[in-house]
Amino acid sequence: MKRIIASVLTAALLASSPALAAGKGYLKDHDFSFDGMFGAYDQGELQRGYQIYEQVCAACHGMKHVPFRTLGDKNGPGFSDAEVKAIAANFEVPDEEGDPGDTRPAKPFDYFPTPLASGNPPDMSLLAKARAGGPLYIYSIMLGYTGEEKEVGGAFLYENKAYGGYFGMAQPIYEEDVEYADGTPETLEQYANDLSAFLMWAAEPKMVERKQAGVWSISFLILFATLVWFTNRKVWAKVKHPEDHA
Ligand code: HEC
Repeated sequence: MKRIIASVLTAALLASSPALAAGKGYLKDHDFSFDGMFGAYDQGELQRGYQIYEQVCAACHGMKHVPFRTLGDKNGPGFSDAEVKAIAANFEVPDEEGDPGDTRPAKPFDYFPTPLASGNPPDMSLLAKARAGGPLYIYSIMLGYTGEEKEVGGAFLYENKAYGGYFGMAQPIYEEDVEYADGTPETLEQYANDLSAFLMWAAEPKMVERKQAGVWSISFLILFATLVWFTNRKVWAKVKHPEDHA
């Protein structure tokens, strides 16, 4: 019995340890603003994260499940209508009314297009939930390059600690690559934090609402349980102590 308890405890500890991804890679230790029961997205982070996506990652990674209009969500990046329009117009999407192959600037109701890129970069719409470690995995990938690279059959591979070996994406961003207008430090850690937050929002735009609903239902359950307990005591009081109620 003791051994069973010990192994269950060990398994629980391992499962909650932030250091090891499900596979072979090592994840960084980092607290996100949206962690925990009361955590919420930070609009500044989401807007800066979007800026990195557009200026760097979008060259290779699409987001085909994310419509431009959601960039205006109040619990999301919260861009204004004019900003969302301007952002969409920076992207080209297939023109249904033109000849095959024609494109037109995107409108807010369109979805982020998938760029043509070599090496099969995964779509980013759900990436923050598709990998063990979630947003922490993306954060750790951005900070996980060792600088080692090798050539295999004509293709270059790059070593990354979070990936747990070599893979096909060269380090996409270095410090000071993206200029922040709000004075936030342009460090790689900050970029990784903001981009991971943005991709977490892209993958789960309703997280804040879901957490609020969770907190509400737990509060309700506690209140309800307390009421039941008092009612129960009152109802049974006469039965248990009839002498007090004679
Ligand atoms: C020049 C093209 C290019 C750019 C720019 C780029 N990527 Fe990638 N990315 C790739 C390719 C190709 C892969 C697939 C590599 C592989 O599986 O070997 C990839 C894979 C990934 C993965 C997934 C690893 C996995 O588990 O499959 C993550 C995370 C990632 N990229 C994040 C980013 C982020 C964040 C940015 C922007 C800061 C970015 N990428 C910019 C080409 C790019």
